[in-house]
Amino acid sequence: MSAILLFSPLTIRDLTLRNRIVVPPMHQYSAVKGFPTDWHLMNAGKFAAGGAGLVIVESTKVERRGCGTVGDLGIWDDGFIEPLRRLAKFIKEQNAAAGIQLGHSGRKARARRPWEGDGPLPRTPDIDDWDAWTPVAPSAIAHSEKWPVPRAMERQEIKDLVLAWGEAARRAREAGFDVLELHGAHGYLVHEFLSERANQRTDEYGGSELNRMRFLIEITEAVRVQWPDDKPLFVRLSVEDNAGWGPEQSARLAKILKAKGVDVIDCSSGGITDVAPILGQEIKYNYQVPLAEYVRGHADIMTMAVGLIIHGDQAERILRSGQADLIAVGREILNNPNWPMDAALKLGVEAPFRNVPPQFGWWLGTRHRRGFGTRPSTWQVGLEETTRP
Ligand SMILES: Cc1cc2nc3c(=O)[nH]c(=O)nc-3n(C[C@H](O)[C@H](O)[C@H](O)COP(=O)(O)O)c2cc1C
Repeated sequence: MSAILLFSPLTIRDLTLRNRIVVPPMHQYSAVKGFPTDWHLMNAGKFAAGGAGLVIVESTKVERRGCGTVGDLGIWDDGFIEPLRRLAKFIKEQNAAAGIQLGHSGRKARARRPWEGDGPLPRTPDIDDWDAWTPVAPSAIAHSEKWPVPRAMERQEIKDLVLAWGEAARRAREAGFDVLELHGAHGYLVHEFLSERANQRTDEYGGSELNRMRFLIEITEAVRVQWPDDKPLFVRLSVEDNAGWGPEQSARLAKILKAKGVDVIDCSSGGITDVAPILGQEIKYNYQVPLAEYVRGHADIMTMAVGLIIHGDQAERILRSGQADLIAVGREILNNPNWPMDAALKLGVEAPFRNVPPQFGWWLGTRHRRGFGTRPSTWQVGLEETTRP
């Protein structure tokens, strides 16, 4: 086993990850009527071939009206199983584990793609199910002034939706995924239930903290019935949302979720207000790492750190200091899909190309052994220490 923690295998339930590098869910806004395209195969495939331990497919919607944009992936029908299986299979063929995030956009559904201006989508004739796509939420409270007022869900609708999450988990299992992540962050439906600001229900799904947690707890139970005991279950939370929900609440929730069979809390932030987690404010290296550390320490559960983790030595330090168990690298891996290979070289891992397929790895390994390895191609000579965390 490598002395470098980032490249040490990690076993969660019966799944052993080859290293602790995770590609977090990242929307591609490129599905067609919910179905993945070749783009998704290329996207997941390049990260898996780049050496990540786990690649989590973007937020995939458990019901049609939960779609954020016209390009969201879907898993609300058995027809999605086969095309999703192609994605999972290809990821696993590169010796990465295949994960998928289940989500529902709630009151932030029916939006534009970010590069088309974000915010609510204007009605266009090509969307044939506009009314059925009306955003729903725990209460009829808009996300902000520019968003439409959602329809408050009926109690029975909530019960039905809990079962829909369970059915989605079954489909993910049948499609062959190794890891399931429930999206409970970023101001989408599950987070809306958690938030006092978005949830003003007077039934058992609103009011007290436990009542606001109930939707996610019931989803977790429904999912665990369908998701095998030997496979890990992750939940992504906005551990701090700057609007009333914070680390203490998150840790209390994490304890309950752990007892229901959740293995890892993926620690993100924000989204319940108009300040998106990764937009609109100055953010710094490791900006969410203290959240992962807090939940890990207070709920005795594994955590995944995410958010401007850029360098291999930065990631290694987070693991060594016990702040998190897994490291998710998002936009930096968009910048360099071979990030794991690059980090392995820089951290001095023995056989740094071991994690990538021989189509790349064999050639790079021989080049490395012949002396090129002392100065890898993307090495930044003279990187000032002051810019490093
Ligand atoms: C293009 C893009 C799409 C994203 N889509 C999702 C998503 O589907 N689900 C989710 O929970 N977070 C999503 N995120 C947030 C990322 O998973 C990650 O938490 C965020 O980018 C911060 O990590 P980073 O600084 O390493 O990029 C997305 C981020 C980007 C850049």
